[in-house]
Amino acid sequence: MKVVVGNNDYISELIANEFIKVINVKPNCVLGLATGTSPLKVYANLIKANKEGRVSFKDVSTFNLDEYIGLEGTHVQSYRYFMNDNLFNHIDIDKERTHVLKGTGDYLAYAKEYDNLIAQAGGIDIQILGIGSDGHIAFNEPGASFDSLTHVETLAESTIKDNSRLFNDISEVPTKAVTMGLKSIMNARKIVLIATGKNKAQAIYNLLKGPKTEQVPCSILQDHKDCTIYCDEEAYSLVK
Ligand code: GLP
Repeated sequence: MKVVVGNNDYISELIANEFIKVINVKPNCVLGLATGTSPLKVYANLIKANKEGRVSFKDVSTFNLDEYIGLEGTHVQSYRYFMNDNLFNHIDIDKERTHVLKGTGDYLAYAKEYDNLIAQAGGIDIQILGIGSDGHIAFNEPGASFDSLTHVETLAESTIKDNSRLFNDISEVPTKAVTMGLKSIMNARKIVLIATGKNKAQAIYNLLKGPKTEQVPCSILQDHKDCTIYCDEEAYSLVK
C-alpha cells in the first residue's frame, strides 16, 4: 500500500486526477464509487473536469458500494439519491450505466446478481473507498468474511451513531444495508481510499500498522497490489 498525506483539497484533487487518467486511457472503463462525506470534493473535481472538457463519462459505467435497506432511491438519504445529487446529475454520464444496489423491492435478487454484473461490465478499473471509524469499508462491518461477495449486513452501533448526523433522528437510520463484499472490493484493479479527520485515526492506524484480521475489515487492503491510502494529518495522526 502507498500512503499520501495532505489536506482534503490536495488529496481530493490527486484522487480525481487518478480517475481522470483511468477514464482518458479507457473511455469505457468501470468505476467503483462510494458515498459519504469523504469523496465529496473528489466528485466536485470530477464535475469541474467534465465541464471543462478534460474528461467525458459518456461511455463510462459505474457500480456503487452499498445501499441502506428500506430506503427508496428517491429518499434523500439513500445512496442512489446521493450519487445523482453529488455526481451523476452534473456530468455527461448515461444513467442507465450507473448501478447502485437496491434498498427496497427485490433487493436480494439484485444483490445476488451484482458481482456478475460487475464482471460482465469488465470488472472495476478504479475503486474509491471511504472508511468507517470502526474500520469498515463499504458496509462490511467487523467480522465480515474476507471471502464475502455482495450481501446483507447488520450495521454496527457505532456506524448507526456516526451516520445519524445525516438523519433527523438516530431512530431513522436503517439498521441493515446491502453491500459489496470484501472480495468484490478486492477484485478492483486499482483502489484509492480517502480518510479525513480525527474520527478516522484509529481505523487508519489499524489499516496501516495492525494485523490483517476480519475484525478490521479494511485490513484486507494490505493484500491489494495497487492500493493507495490518501489521508489528512488528523486521520494519519496515530501512525507517526
Ligand atoms: C458509510 C458508508 C461507507 C463510508 C463511511 C464513511 O458507512 N457505507 O462507504 O466510507 O460511511 O463515511 P464518511 O465519509 O461520511 O465519514
